[in-house]
Amino acid sequence: MSTTGQRGRSSDGSGGGNEERVEKIRLAEMRMRMAALEREKRDLVQAKMEAEERLLRYAALFEHAPVGCLTLDRRGAIVEVNQSGASLFGTDRARLTGKRIELFLSVESRAAFSAFLAEMFDSGRRMFCEVEASSKEGAPLAIELVGMSLEDGRASHLVATDITERKRIVGEMERSREELRNLAARLLSVREDERTALARELHDNLGQLLAAMKFNLAWLRRSMKCVGDPEKRKAIRAKALELGAFIDDAIATVRQTAGDLRPAVLSVIGFWPAIEAETARFTARTGIACAVEPCGSPKRPYTDKVSIAVFRIVQEALTNIALHAKADTVRISCTASEDGHTLSIIDDGSGIDEAELSSPNSLGLIGMRERARTFGGELAVLGVPGSGTTVAISIPIRHARRGP
Ligand SMILES: Nc1ncnc2c1ncn2[C@@H]1O[C@H](COP(=O)(O)OP(=O)(O)OP(=O)(O)O)[C@@H](O)[C@H]1O
Ligand SMILES: [Mg+2]
Repeated sequence: MSTTGQRGRSSDGSGGGNEERVEKIRLAEMRMRMAALEREKRDLVQAKMEAEERLLRYAALFEHAPVGCLTLDRRGAIVEVNQSGASLFGTDRARLTGKRIELFLSVESRAAFSAFLAEMFDSGRRMFCEVEASSKEGAPLAIELVGMSLEDGRASHLVATDITERKRIVGEMERSREELRNLAARLLSVREDERTALARELHDNLGQLLAAMKFNLAWLRRSMKCVGDPEKRKAIRAKALELGAFIDDAIATVRQTAGDLRPAVLSVIGFWPAIEAETARFTARTGIACAVEPCGSPKRPYTDKVSIAVFRIVQEALTNIALHAKADTVRISCTASEDGHTLSIIDDGSGIDEAELSSPNSLGLIGMRERARTFGGELAVLGVPGSGTTVAISIPIRHARRGP
């Protein structure tokens, strides 16, 4: 029977030496393995320490986070909650843990919260929900919940933030914006009323005075034959003619100014003819061709107030084109839909850029928007640099009348 020792022994008798070498190699290998194990152990201890440290850090973060952090199970029961979360719901952690969060929400918020919980677990997406709870003192609190279910779908992490103050500020801003809007609408209406009154004054007083002057002048001219000296008569006739021309100019200016102040043409000749007259004046003044494509009834497509507001917006848009656009042509087109009319003033000029559109200094554009809001309409301005600008006014159906 052969043994390991015998198998390794050579014919020259050096077998003992080989065994020793093999042993030495094995020993060296074992030492190396031991050293590797030692290193692995050291690494593991180090990693464990780091993990513990990280855990402590996260635990401290969880504990001292200024927002509420909660873990919920699928039923919405609280598995874990930090201190901020507990004080948000006006109670202590012991009372919250294990209870369904719904119990701490106002009755009105519960349906919204249930839908949020179901969707959060079903979709696996980050979800938002706004709920109402009560502070320790019983004051209502608005709480925003942001949550996402964990990968195994058995629990979810939620961050709860008190947004009561934020909501109050947003509400106040909304209210003050609404007040500003009302104020702007009131100012526009007062301005329009004052223009009407001024136009009436001009027409009734100055107009009457000028008419009387013309009448008296005619009498003077008729009486001129009483002047004996033909030279004097000639000079007086020339003066009378000149005076007559001045009075005619003054009458035309009064009419024009009164017309500008109160576009009486709107009620006399009708909305679309008034727009056409305005664009004809614009073309005569600027040399920019302007086409008009009306819709709705030509005379009274809108109520008086809406007609004036839309007319003023068109005037301001045309003034802007004359001043800023460097356009060759303008088109005023109107399309009718189930919702009402959309009246667009389209030019092929330089276009408005974003900064000008949203600048608080663009008072003309702001005024146009405010005017549109006075009748529940909207104003959209679209500028394509180098290709022109479109100002679109939407006029709700209740103000838009069908064509004849
Ligand atoms: N059709 C247009 N084409 C190119 N730029 C325009 C056009 N309309 C307005 N803009 C630009 O938008 C800016 C704001 O217009 P907005 O009417 O508010 O002010 P404004 O015309 O400069 O002054 P105002 O208060 O007298 O109307 C203008 O200064 C001009 O640069
Ligand atoms: Mg302007």
